Amino acid sequence: MMTAPLRTSEITTVPVALGTRAYDIAIGRGLVAEVGKRIAALKPGASAAIVTDETVAARHLKTAEAALAAANVRSSFIVVPPGEKTKSWQMLEHVCDRLLDARIERNDVVIALGGGVVGDLAGFAAAILRRGLDVVQVPTTLLAQVDSSVGGKTGINSRHGKNLVGAFHQPVLVLADTALLDTLPAREFRAGYAEVAKYGLLGDAGFFTWLEASWQDVFTGGSSSGSFAREHAIAIACRGKASIVARDERETGERALLNLGHTFGHAFEAAAGFSDKLLHGEAVALGIVCAFEFSSRLGLLPTNDAGRVAHHLAAVGLPTRLSDVPALRTDADTLMSLIGQDKKVQRGKLNFILVRGIGHAFVARDIDPAQVREFLQEKLSR
Ligand SMILES: NC(=O)c1ccc[n+]([C@@H]2O[C@H](COP(=O)([O-])OP(=O)(O)OC[C@H]3O[C@@H](n4cnc5c(N)ncnc54)[C@H](O)[C@@H]3O)[C@@H](O)[C@H]2O)c1
Ligand SMILES: [Zn+2]
Repeated sequence: MMTAPLRTSEITTVPVALGTRAYDIAIGRGLVAEVGKRIAALKPGASAAIVTDETVAARHLKTAEAALAAANVRSSFIVVPPGEKTKSWQMLEHVCDRLLDARIERNDVVIALGGGVVGDLAGFAAAILRRGLDVVQVPTTLLAQVDSSVGGKTGINSRHGKNLVGAFHQPVLVLADTALLDTLPAREFRAGYAEVAKYGLLGDAGFFTWLEASWQDVFTGGSSSGSFAREHAIAIACRGKASIVARDERETGERALLNLGHTFGHAFEAAAGFSDKLLHGEAVALGIVCAFEFSSRLGLLPTNDAGRVAHHLAAVGLPTRLSDVPALRTDADTLMSLIGQDKKVQRGKLNFILVRGIGHAFVARDIDPAQVREFLQEKLSR
């Protein structure tokens, strides 16, 4: 289906059709240079406050500031430490106070310049400050460009778990500058790629087939690859997310499909202590393979799609066997209790996103925990 290159010009625009909360995702190399111009057009006279982390600030803050200055947009910035721990009550308070110190008013704009951590934190601060400020997402990781910057979920972690405190707050614009990914460590890029592949696997078989053939160009990116493969992959992934979000903004149904691989994946992340021993996207890769293999075991998959998926994810260098990750030397009971704590469990029954083939995910309710346990036990022994 969606295999023809979406990208015919320097910039691809993917609209997110949410009525009064509609916005564009613009994708292209060097786009950050336009951030000032675009904000001035959307919100004449607005000042901007950039929220970013130390790692991103060292590499890209000056470029963003210069782009704002060139369009006469006054700006200030707040730099937070990198890492998941930054999605905390303490940092939320810090960011809110600094935004108030910078005299950010109702008509001004917050720019989230960073990965998913900065996007979630700055987006949530914008959602609650002065009862709601506009936020522009400028995602700087592959994961953030195809996932966290789109769809309006914002928030922080609590001692009770990840992402438990937050709000839906759609951005007014998403600017995905693919050149920013040139400074991203290879391992982070690979982890984000698991979420890219996810969109093909959940609803667009043609896109997955294209990725199998073109992934190397997606990784290389830029003029050296002589193609727009990276931009194309990000645009197709964003289009997939945008259409699901437009139909189910608050996850009452279809949006749950975006959790393909995430019920297993979250248990693996938790087992590895939410540490850099297993990045989120790596856990998702493992989780996707599990979702396919478990679907196969339930007789839902007629062909060797599970093998094909594992083969591709392994080819790009993602973990596909639990034994690939030393931090996952655990047992089935531990994993089951972690799955049980996941928020996708409803009243003792397990909900999983399963598949009837590549590109055909669905929400499976009432999955028997005993079957899951048996499956995990086998997976652990391989
Ligand atoms: N809101 C949503 O819908 C949604 C969806 C998926 C994930 N998330 C959240 O996203 C977070 C994970 O996001 P992430 O994977 O982007 O992690 P991240 O924001 O922690 O970024 C990963 C690392 O890369 C660094 N980095 C970022 N951009 C860089 C660049 N261009 N060059 C060099 N280094 C760079 C960061 O400093 C950080 O150390 C999690 O907190 C997760 O809960 C949210
Ligand atoms: Zn994810």
